[in-house]
Amino acid sequence: MHRINVAVDGPSGVGKSSICTRIADHYGMIHLDTGAMYRCVALSIKRQDIALDDLKAIEKLCDTIDIEFDNGKVLLNKEDVTKAIKMNDISNFTSKIAALPVVREKMVALQQKVTKGKNFIVDGRDIGTTVLPDAEVKIYLSASPKARAQRRYNEYMEKGIESDYEIIYQDIVARDYQDSHRAVSPLRKAEDAIEIDTSDMTIDEVEEAVEDIIDKAL
Ligand code: DC
Repeated sequence: MHRINVAVDGPSGVGKSSICTRIADHYGMIHLDTGAMYRCVALSIKRQDIALDDLKAIEKLCDTIDIEFDNGKVLLNKEDVTKAIKMNDISNFTSKIAALPVVREKMVALQQKVTKGKNFIVDGRDIGTTVLPDAEVKIYLSASPKARAQRRYNEYMEKGIESDYEIIYQDIVARDYQDSHRAVSPLRKAEDAIEIDTSDMTIDEVEEAVEDIIDKAL
C-alpha cells in the first residue's frame, strides 16, 4: 500500500474529528487535528493574557509552543488540555485568533513539516486549499447548521450536560461566518475536493463513504 495524505475540511460541528479518528484507525494513519492546534494557541494566549494586537508576543508564543497528540489526548507544554480546549469560551476565542495571519503562517508551516512523510489524515478548514494542496485525497464534509446543532445538542444530552438548542445553533452560525469570512485562508472547499453532505447520514455511513474514496486512491 503506498503512503498518501488525506485532507478533510468542513465547518464546525460536522464531525470531522470523530470521522478522522475512525479512518486513521482503519488504515493505520496518523490523525492530525489542526483545530486542536489553534485551540492550544488560543488557550495559551488567554492564560498568558496576551493582547490580540501584541503580534510580537503572539509570534513568540507560536514559535515556542509545544503541542503533542498522545492516544486521543492533546498535550500543551506537556499538560493534558483535552477538555480545557473544548470549552465554549475557548472555541469562540479560537475562531478569533485563527484569523491572525501570524498564527496561521506558523501553524501551517508546522502542519506541513509534520506531514511531509505522508500517511496522515489531517482535518481543518484550509487543509485541501493551503496546507496540503497536493494531498492525494481531499474531502469536504458538510451538513446544514440545523443538523450540526442538533447533533451537538444530542451529544450534550447524552452526557447529561444542560444546554439550549437555540444557543448552540446561533453559535454555529456565528462561527461559520467568522471562519468563512476571514481574510486569510477562509473555510472553503478546494476545487478538487469531493463533498459529502452528511446532514442525513449516520457516522457509520459517512465513514463508509470516506473509505470508499480512500480505497480508490490507494
Ligand atoms: O475544528 P475545530 O472546531 O476544533 O476548530 C477550532 C477553530 O479553529 C475554528 O474556529 C476554526 C479554526 N481552524 C482554522 O481556522 N483552521 C484550521 N485548519 C483548523 C481550525
